[in-house]
Amino acid sequence: MANSSGSCKNKRWSLNGMTALVTGGTKGIGHAIVEELAEFGARVHTCARNESELEACKCNWDTKGLQVSYSVCDVSSRAQREKLMEAVSSEFNGKLDILVNNVGTCIVKPTTEFTAEEYAVLMATNLESTYHLNQLAHPLLKASGRGNIILMSSVGGVVSVNVSSLYSATKGAINQLAKNLACEWAKDDIRVNSVAPWFIRTPLADTVLCDKEYLEKVEGRTPLGRIGEVEEVSSLVTFLCMPAASYITGQTICVDGGLTTERFRHAVVEELAQFGARVHKCARNEFELEACKRNREMKGFQVSYPICDVTSREQREKLMENVSSKFNGKLNILVRSIY
Ligand SMILES: NC(=O)c1ccc[n+]([C@@H]2O[C@H](COP(=O)([O-])OP(=O)(O)OC[C@H]3O[C@@H](n4cnc5c(N)ncnc54)[C@H](OP(=O)(O)O)[C@@H]3O)[C@@H](O)[C@H]2O)c1
Repeated sequence: MANSSGSCKNKRWSLNGMTALVTGGTKGIGHAIVEELAEFGARVHTCARNESELEACKCNWDTKGLQVSYSVCDVSSRAQREKLMEAVSSEFNGKLDILVNNVGTCIVKPTTEFTAEEYAVLMATNLESTYHLNQLAHPLLKASGRGNIILMSSVGGVVSVNVSSLYSATKGAINQLAKNLACEWAKDDIRVNSVAPWFIRTPLADTVLCDKEYLEKVEGRTPLGRIGEVEEVSSLVTFLCMPAASYITGQTICVDGGLTTERFRHAVVEELAQFGARVHKCARNEFELEACKRNREMKGFQVSYPICDVTSREQREKLMENVSSKFNGKLNILVRSIY
């Protein structure tokens, strides 16, 4: 009895016998996903533009005993996407269990400075490639009878994170695509989810996080107080592809150290102020508070911003003294939104 329930559990938490295509597997998040899917038993095909990096990764995967093959492919090219899917189809006999649309890039600059070429590159790499690869993979995923698509999004597609409006728009579109495809292709036994990370330590993120001051601001804004690691994203992707996740589809799941919970706090402050309340809002991060203050001053809201780390007894006491003196010893509403 114990044995049969054990083997049932093993099947639910395994990718044994499954096949996967992961785009952009030589670096960063994609690399971690390739390894974790293969470690859980999947045969994986990956792609990237740089052939020598693909070869080096392949050597390493062979040494680890992982079953990974590759194609050189720039996913922003329609013709190369078609060739990639032909290779996948012939390798996996016309069936594919898992498609991870991981490739994406970011151009960090203000909206007013984006050129037409940059617009085209970002749309082709992030959105068009994802859309078209899904279309191309559909017959293979349907043939598998247990298809799974993961779309790599970003918290930029969920909240405003001041990185690049166009990058965020592509990721917002990807989240919407996940919802629609989940419904459209449910009849074909294909599940579709999007995964939305906050800053994760990768070569792409390093281009902005190498600025120590910027890194400190990012960490200060993140409830867990640090950026994420690639394995913290690949573990979610792997779980979503397992039979254990068989009832999860159409979701956008954030891997963000708590960042997107800020939405709730911001909304509470704004709404109370909109209805005429004077609001005192505390946080630890001076930079973030300053940004909120400027934004709300523009809207004409009466909000003040003390710095306070609520894990410190002393600072809590100071905060309440401050509140008492500001509101003449009376308080109508107390909202505690820090966990
Ligand atoms: N890192 C973060 O903080 C973060 C946060 C939120 C979301 N994301 C998303 O996560 C995904 C992966 O990001 P990452 O940080 O791991 O990126 P990365 O470090 O730049 O790695 C990207 C991988 O994709 C490949 N690649 C890039 N452009 C390609 C193209 N046009 N065709 C084929 N392969 C291509 C790269 O190899 P080649 O250069 O050889 O092609 C590399 O293997 C992206 O969709 C990104 O938007 C990342």
